[in-house]
Amino acid sequence: MADAQQTTVQFARGLEGVIAAETRIGFVDGNLGRLVYRGFDISTLVEQSNYEEVSYLLLNGKLPNKEEYSNYVSRLKKLKYLEKDEYDLISKLGKVSHPMSTLRTVVSYIGAKDPRTVEPDVAVQEDLGLELIAKMPTIVAAINRAHNGLDFVKPDPDLSYSSDFFYQSLGRKPSTIEAKMLDTALILHADHGMNASTFAAMLTISTLSDMYSSATSAISALKGPLHGGANERALSLIQKVGVPENAEKIIGEMIDRKDKIMGFGHRVYKVYDPRAKILKQFAERVTTANKQQVLFKTANKIEEVMISRLGSKGIFPNVDFYSGMLYYSIGFNPDIFTPIFAVGRISGWVARALEYVRDNKIFRPKALYSGETGPKKYVPVNERD
Ligand code: ACO
Repeated sequence: MADAQQTTVQFARGLEGVIAAETRIGFVDGNLGRLVYRGFDISTLVEQSNYEEVSYLLLNGKLPNKEEYSNYVSRLKKLKYLEKDEYDLISKLGKVSHPMSTLRTVVSYIGAKDPRTVEPDVAVQEDLGLELIAKMPTIVAAINRAHNGLDFVKPDPDLSYSSDFFYQSLGRKPSTIEAKMLDTALILHADHGMNASTFAAMLTISTLSDMYSSATSAISALKGPLHGGANERALSLIQKVGVPENAEKIIGEMIDRKDKIMGFGHRVYKVYDPRAKILKQFAERVTTANKQQVLFKTANKIEEVMISRLGSKGIFPNVDFYSGMLYYSIGFNPDIFTPIFAVGRISGWVARALEYVRDNKIFRPKALYSGETGPKKYVPVNERD
């Protein structure tokens, strides 16, 4: 039974709809289908910018001038390398552990070795955050290599953030369209409101813990299938449907059974997810270039069936419907899809953790107590039934 004081507090399971922080970083308009970073529409940013610049924008609140941009990119390039023991750890975990568990462990390990993680001030947190942003593609690419039993490919100092991630992961340089697609996907995943992993990052840093611990918490939260991972299952559905001619029957039957179709629907967007709209254009071009058109055509037919049956309920493709297909068509295996999400999201995690800790208040929500209030009589163990 809840006590009188508790019942006067508004109860929102899972904190749904509760505003617990103020931000100037990003905004999701679920009704108009807009995603905004620091006032810029993501469609503008993916057309005209690149991941490094967007990362700077999220962290600093403005686009960099020429000198700031060049300094930022140089710092990222300088910090992107891993030590031998870090590669050794990735090798050791490579085949036995899920890539997300390896990612969590490696990020935690690098933080554990760094003496600056003991009671860091905000300036140190900023340095640690930048280091994490720089190293994340190298770590995930190395995990991808080790998980697939392949030799590591060391960073290329001349490549951009996303192209070097592509190169270290897949062992070849991307084509122009592949480079643009991956850069776009990373930008589109860089920030998305106060989702579970971002909240985990903010919650951890609010105790004045360090940025590596904050990122470790975020990665742990992203690992769960209710957050990362829907793109893996969306791709598997598209592969199961196989050809466009099967979509009507298979998807129709799933809808009749009230199955959830992976890659459709969103808690916030009740219109077409703007990220999916952008990725769909790339999906058509990249699958055509990589001779995987059947994947795109099948997906397109599934989308048609879904919108005709469920569009009136606000069910449209979300970012996961086309991202998995894109990653797969350039050569990534599905179990690395969620770590790729982390490569994009690291800038958002760091930006939001820093924004929060600069005006910090430790998170401390309450739970509605619905247990017995007693006081009950204590019975010693040998007198209990
Ligand atoms: N497939 C079939 N039906 C669906 C789907 C779907 N993917 N999503 C929602 N519906 C149905 C609901 O069951 C509900 O039906 P009802 O009116 O008969 O009760 C109706 O459509 C309206 O649903 P909403 O209230 O809009 O959806 P909700 O907010 O509850 O759920 C969620 C959102 C959890 C994302 C859901 O759409 C889902 O499970 N989708 C599939 C998983 C997925 O793709 N997740 C990735 C999200 S994006 C991201 O996290 C990066």
